[in-house]
Amino acid sequence: MVDRSVRARMRVVEGDITRLAVDAIVNAANERLAPGGGVCGAIHRAAGPELARACREVAPCPTGEARITPGFRLRARHVIHAVGPVWHGGDEGEDELLASAYRSALMLAREHQLETLAFPAISTGVYGFPIPRAARIAVRTVADFLAREEYPREVLFCCFGEETARAHRAALAELAREADGA
Ligand code: APR
Repeated sequence: MVDRSVRARMRVVEGDITRLAVDAIVNAANERLAPGGGVCGAIHRAAGPELARACREVAPCPTGEARITPGFRLRARHVIHAVGPVWHGGDEGEDELLASAYRSALMLAREHQLETLAFPAISTGVYGFPIPRAARIAVRTVADFLAREEYPREVLFCCFGEETARAHRAALAELAREADGA
């Protein structure tokens, strides 16, 4: 059961994560931490070439783990690079690996005492993870972490598009219903 004070620390926002002025944005990265397409490409373009250099110093990053770098030209002070799983149908540990990618990013935010952290919908683009299933894992993993920890104080789910935003809102509403029914 996730109480109201924890739910108040989670929010869905729609739009481009590279525009957010938060302590850290999360990148949906690959294991090499190389600039790619999707949100990763957008973050590298906005941060400038220094980001790829910083990534090389902390690479590789196995699936389910995360690394932190400065944000360079971004409005966000840091980028936390989290590697989600490629979707192979759901029987290859994808759920647990996705939860682990979120937890690893949250642990870095706690370590660095970051107030506000924004996540994109990790693995739901190029990596093919079904959006509603990923949204439930994202919201529950973050809620469990915030219930135990003071940092980060606030987590934003930065959704690129209506379908993703709807899935995250539904997952948050499900938590609220469970709490009300309990
Ligand atoms: N802001 C927020 N979200 C974004 C943005 C943006 N500017 N651009 C794309 N997204 C969304 C996508 O719509 C999707 O919901 O981010 C989510 C994750 O999609 P991908 O970026 O494709 O990430 P993922 O599925 O985890 O695949 C990772 O793609 O770009 C490569 O280097 C990356 O190899 C890695 C792989």
